[in-house]
Amino acid sequence: MRTGSIRQGGGALEDIVSLAPIGEPRRKITVASLREKKLQHQLLTCLTAYDYASARLVDEADIDIVLVGDSLAMTMLGYPDTLSVTVDEMLHHTKAVRRGVKHALLVADMPYGSYHLGMDDAVRNAARFVKEAGAEVVKIEGGEKRADLIRRVIDAEIPVAGHIGLTPQSVNVMGGYKVQGKSLSGIEQLMRDAVALDRAGVALLVLEGIPREVAAMITEEVATPTIGIGAGPDCDGQVLVFHDILNLTFAPPAKFVRHYGDAAALIADAVHAFREDVHSHQYPSDNESYHLSKETQQALETVLERKRGIRR
Ligand code: KIV
Repeated sequence: MRTGSIRQGGGALEDIVSLAPIGEPRRKITVASLREKKLQHQLLTCLTAYDYASARLVDEADIDIVLVGDSLAMTMLGYPDTLSVTVDEMLHHTKAVRRGVKHALLVADMPYGSYHLGMDDAVRNAARFVKEAGAEVVKIEGGEKRADLIRRVIDAEIPVAGHIGLTPQSVNVMGGYKVQGKSLSGIEQLMRDAVALDRAGVALLVLEGIPREVAAMITEEVATPTIGIGAGPDCDGQVLVFHDILNLTFAPPAKFVRHYGDAAALIADAVHAFREDVHSHQYPSDNESYHLSKETQQALETVLERKRGIRR
């Protein structure tokens, strides 16, 4: 029996009046359902989305988690890294994604500088993602040194996603985008990071750019679901960047990226074809044009005829 509230997006009332064939109703993914799926060894899927159209497509494809990643600094805004994107820019995109997502859990990245200047400032910024943009979870990069801060945000009733390993907001400290946890001390640090965030109560833990063996150990060790990106197949789920899987990044892909489509070629072909059609008078055709009704056309002819008569 469904127990969902009718006020929830895509909730029970909509299902009752739906004309769609009766099947398994899609459940709203919540923080609790992520844990359930981990316990039942059901793999989780997560993709980034940055606007209404991509959010709808991702959500309607039954992806569990939609992440408004600060990777949008590069994919959408053309910056060289994630550091310059602001809270206001992230909110703008999160609001658009919110309007496209009904079932997936909506996670938004807190950008660089939005949680580094003190706990109160971090909680204030995190609350903006919930109140103004409808995010259900905020993601914060960093390991054990962020545990207290993450507790404070969770205390404010805001679920937090952790993110450890290769954390792109630390690019200048790491000296580039380098795989983390390759040495024994690196592995120890990652284990401490994972356990600290798990104890702090993160809703999920993104593991980025670490050896698969280390990701497997972390996944085994923590109760929270791990979502890997460049962390091998033994995580509780996988996340990829929307633009990466569609070849829309204008850059050589990282080792872990798989292209599931070539949107760059699709878009380029369509744009060239449009240009060709305009230049060769193939677009628009008569069928693609609006027409006057017969009566209006006749009336117009009469008026024009009269005007020509007056001029003669
Ligand atoms: O910003 C982002 O897209 C991310 C994912 C790579 C996990 O943080």
